[in-house]
Amino acid sequence: MRLAELTALFGQLDFPRSDGHARPPRDHVRAVEGAVRAGLSDDELPLELLALEIERRDGAPELAPFHVVPEVGVRVAFAYWRPGRAAGAHEHSDWTVTAVFHNALDVATFDWDATARARRLVPKRLFSAEAGRVGHIYGPCIHDPRNPTASWSISLHLFGPSDGPVLEAQVGPVEGLTPAAPRPAAADDALSAALLAHERECVRRAQIDALAQRGPRAAALLARLHARGDAGTRARAARALGRPEELDARAALVRRWPGVDLDVIRSAGRAELRARCGERAQLLVRVEAWAEPALRALAAASELRPRDIPGLAEAEQLALARALVDWGTFQPFAAQEN
Ligand SMILES: [Fe+2]
Repeated sequence: MRLAELTALFGQLDFPRSDGHARPPRDHVRAVEGAVRAGLSDDELPLELLALEIERRDGAPELAPFHVVPEVGVRVAFAYWRPGRAAGAHEHSDWTVTAVFHNALDVATFDWDATARARRLVPKRLFSAEAGRVGHIYGPCIHDPRNPTASWSISLHLFGPSDGPVLEAQVGPVEGLTPAAPRPAAADDALSAALLAHERECVRRAQIDALAQRGPRAAALLARLHARGDAGTRARAARALGRPEELDARAALVRRWPGVDLDVIRSAGRAELRARCGERAQLLVRVEAWAEPALRALAAASELRPRDIPGLAEAEQLALARALVDWGTFQPFAAQEN
């Protein structure tokens, strides 16, 4: 299935135009859900959607639509879920179709009427959804999806044009409901900016992981992400393409993240390398206390080769260097201009 076939379905089913407030019949939303499910079961539609996403919204804010269906105003967007991330309980007042596109999500739902009466969240059910699972909401509804896994997940969303919060306008503040406005990305210090750039790379890596599970036609998109990413992203794309680019213990790594300090802290019998900018800090790696000199060498270096990290065997040197390359804190010398 192609995106054009999916979008043609809205015309065939006579979905209301975006300038009115009419809702399509629930069976028509179910038909869209079925079409999305069928489309995700082979490679054509997922690759087309990811190609649009990668071209149109690389680095854009969460849930920025990569496609809007003309006339009916349906927005099509991906969302990215770092390990452990929860959306927070929020409302949908229109219809939506949602699919787990990559990895898995748990979804908690809440009883709308009971929540409205109590003005606090009243749980209804909890279900787990694997990649390929598709569902729909025929609002109003409150839910809270979260990624319970240790890897990134991706979800695909089709939103009706009138979706938005309505409950608190009707009944007043509801305890536990997440505010509708997206949290602004705070990048007003050097560490926040570095972590935001890292997050963008993590999104690309999640796209790579999703593409790695598709057929040979994913190779062109993998190559595009390889060309765009930092060294950690390139290494992941190269692995997915079947031509790994392993870090060389003799390769010079150059410190990035200007304006960010690296501190070594002892905590609970272990040593931690933390990035810090003023009050803000981010744990980068945690190792056994005996490896503290290795972290101290990294914290002090503006440039070093993995094999010069003191006190570690080569495999450990490479593992530590790879972790910091993945963060973006260090990059191979040849890659630093990217
Ligand atoms: Fe939602």
